[in-house]
Amino acid sequence: MPIVEEARAKINLALHVTGRRADGYHDLDMLVAFADVGDSVTLATSDTDRFTIDGPMAAGLSADADNLVLRAVQGFRERIGPTEPLSVRLIKRLPVASGIGGGSADAAATLRGLCRLQGIDANDHALASLALSLGADVPMCLAGQPARVTGVGERIEPTAGQLAFGLLLVNPRVGVSTPAVFRALERRDNPGLPALPALGTIDDLSTFLAEKTRNDLEAPARAIAPVIGEVLAALGSLPGIRLSRMSGSGATCFGLFADRSSAEAAGARLEADHPNWWVAPASTTL
Ligand code: C5P
Repeated sequence: MPIVEEARAKINLALHVTGRRADGYHDLDMLVAFADVGDSVTLATSDTDRFTIDGPMAAGLSADADNLVLRAVQGFRERIGPTEPLSVRLIKRLPVASGIGGGSADAAATLRGLCRLQGIDANDHALASLALSLGADVPMCLAGQPARVTGVGERIEPTAGQLAFGLLLVNPRVGVSTPAVFRALERRDNPGLPALPALGTIDDLSTFLAEKTRNDLEAPARAIAPVIGEVLAALGSLPGIRLSRMSGSGATCFGLFADRSSAEAAGARLEADHPNWWVAPASTTL
């Protein structure tokens, strides 16, 4: 029986760059949520290894050994244990290189699927270190729950997940290089996030995010891809929006809404004005 794992989009509700390590990686302090839109990874035992990519965003990716899905399979075999030959299918719905963790979520979904296939506990210590070796965002995608995340991405403190709200994800179909955005930062010693207050309503959340938090990668990403400014301006003028911000190193931006149906109504308006942008309404929790 094939195993299907969802690779949900990772949204950085806040991202503070708090330092730089000797290895060039940055210390971050982030608030992360997962949207109910994403890629999916299907795994099944097979007579020989096979890997296929399809879905609306498949054209942006090649199915070579550099693909994070294949690197996850290879890492699993080397560091966790051998597997039978596998047929792996990636359905790519999220834009590539877009700040919502698509490749990291795909790698994490592959690891979760392999654990199910092999009957291994996904909390395994070796698995956490394999996840981090595949990318700084892979551990949080493996956990797959809303969290405050620090370090380079390896320290994960889940939040209550009790507050549900809507999101509108918007990408202008421009890929942004994450290393280039980090290189363009002017400051790398920003203050971290304040303690998360009690979040009873969407107003509590949007006020906290707007007044106390930022995405420190937004300014350098906008300098590299000015269209991000257009996306944020378009989002900001939509009815019902509570906050607009860029996720990760961009170019995907998100709008915060009270619920999914408000995000859907705003998304329909945005799509009519910008038919070439990728627009995805979603639900999430924090
Ligand atoms: O770990 P990953 O391959 O996803 O990171 C991509 C790039 O993003 C790294 O090569 C590095 O330039 C940058 N990065 C960073 N600090 C982090 C995460 C990523 O500098 N905490």
